[in-house]
Amino acid sequence: MTELHLWLRHEDRDTERRTPVVPSDARRLLAAGVTLTVEESPHRIFPIEEYEAAGCRIAPTGSWVSAPADVVVIGLKELPDEPAGLIHRHIFFGHAYKRQPGAEALLRRFAAGGGSLFDLEYLVDEDGRRLAAFGFWAGYLGAALAVLQHRGRLKAPLAPTSKAELDETLRPAAGDAEFTGLVVGALGRSGRGARVAFATAGVEPTCWDLAETRDLDRPALLAHDVMVNAVLATTPVPPFLREADLDDPGRRLRTLCDVTCDVGSPLNVLPVYDRTTDWTDPARRLREEPPLDLIAIDNLPSLLPLESSTDFSAALLPQLLEFGVGGPWGRGLDRFHQAGRELGIEEGESRHV
Ligand SMILES: NC(=O)c1ccc[n+]([C@@H]2O[C@H](COP(=O)([O-])OP(=O)(O)OC[C@H]3O[C@@H](n4cnc5c(N)ncnc54)[C@H](O)[C@@H]3O)[C@@H](O)[C@H]2O)c1
Repeated sequence: MTELHLWLRHEDRDTERRTPVVPSDARRLLAAGVTLTVEESPHRIFPIEEYEAAGCRIAPTGSWVSAPADVVVIGLKELPDEPAGLIHRHIFFGHAYKRQPGAEALLRRFAAGGGSLFDLEYLVDEDGRRLAAFGFWAGYLGAALAVLQHRGRLKAPLAPTSKAELDETLRPAAGDAEFTGLVVGALGRSGRGARVAFATAGVEPTCWDLAETRDLDRPALLAHDVMVNAVLATTPVPPFLREADLDDPGRRLRTLCDVTCDVGSPLNVLPVYDRTTDWTDPARRLREEPPLDLIAIDNLPSLLPLESSTDFSAALLPQLLEFGVGGPWGRGLDRFHQAGRELGIEEGESRHV
């Protein structure tokens, strides 16, 4: 491996307590000869002292902007708006390859500075499978929040918690009415997480994946009390629910959690709502009679920062140890250049080839 200097940055969003590299994995990176600088970050779930004890260099919050040009800056979510030109190689979720709001502006910042983006969503093996993802915990939380809402126990606003605390509220209590659950996309990462959370809540859900939705049985879907949608749609399919289904007086469905959150996309399988919900107001009533509540939160894993960071970091570690120009990182870089070309962005002089 070439000499790698990783720079773990502070996350700008103050609700974001997750990190892509946890202290125990920082120790492993150092042992393998990687240089690791960690920025101080008041809301990161792991205190800076744990990184210091592991032997990392410590740097002030946001100091990556003036770090040497050859460092690879690593984080999870969006960068601050400054500097206008990005000179470094960055690893994070850029959400910039599907023409999302702000995508072009971000890619132009890279072009202006000559830096590059290794988007974590596009860190894939040769079969296109994601190598590090938060899906399991998204599904776990999606099902957990849906169960709590259904039992009248969901407390707002939501705040980051631990799995032990969450599970305590999830376990069935005396007097809880029985109900049926459905997980769609049950074979995926989020789907697995949803099934585990349902099990903790004492519910054995019906599990559907591609085979079960090919010829969709909507009456069967509507006969469940709680539904968690965890599909990753790649081609358009008929919607799982339409407005008319919500108006069906025979509908049993009372609580719908859309982990997928493809609202506004042509691939959306639940075109029955027009905006996501959030930590302040996690559930929104879609129908009064009979009632139907929607949960559609797009940053679910941030609610379990310790567990989700630990799993993500463990999956990312082997890739970081192999950081280089080929393999998954090479594919990620190709995808970055392709996105720029699609937007007609002139690539500046790249400093890193
Ligand atoms: N809300 C959040 O905070 C959050 C966080 C992470 C991921 N996600 C989203 O959750 C979704 C699932 O992610 P994942 O990591 O579990 O993906 P995954 O690829 O591991 O699993 C997706 C599953 O959906 C199934 N599927 C696809 N189309 C289907 C269809 N028409 N009918 C039935 N099943 C179908 C696939 O066969 C697969 O088993 C993605 O859209 C992802 O962006 C949301």
